[in-house]
Amino acid sequence: MHRILVLHGPNLNWLGKREPEVYGRVTLDGINQALQDLAAELGAELKIFQSNSEGALIDRIQEEAEWADGILINPGAYTHYSYALRDGLASVDLPVVEVHLSNIYRREEFRHTSVIAPVAVGQVAGFGADSYLLGLRALVGYLRR
Ligand code: DQA
Repeated sequence: MHRILVLHGPNLNWLGKREPEVYGRVTLDGINQALQDLAAELGAELKIFQSNSEGALIDRIQEEAEWADGILINPGAYTHYSYALRDGLASVDLPVVEVHLSNIYRREEFRHTSVIAPVAVGQVAGFGADSYLLGLRALVGYLRR
């Protein structure tokens, strides 16, 4: 049974009402439910946490470092500039998969850089809620190998 820490960064608690033309109508609860269903199918256990603050995300990474086998994260806007979050992920030495609902490479220039990607196993972007499901499959597949 692989144990996965799922982290949602800032503003993702507002999915459903936030810029629906970009992020669609899916809610965070809907994504979490779909993740739990897939985790059951894959035989994985999830702990899911959302925060709008950088420090709270880093605290949670450190708190779950012993429990978790891997981390699935949508870092939100922290993707593009948070060296603190990147260092936090690198410090715990767990495989990280980065996901984004939108294709960050076809949006504004500032979104084209991810400071998280260099410390991740891989990244899935552009498939809406499916990015999370593909990312979870990829992370569990990575852990099985
Ligand atoms: C996002 C993309 C980021 O650029 C943005 O700041 C978000 C959401 C995504 O899932 O597409 O908050 O991570």
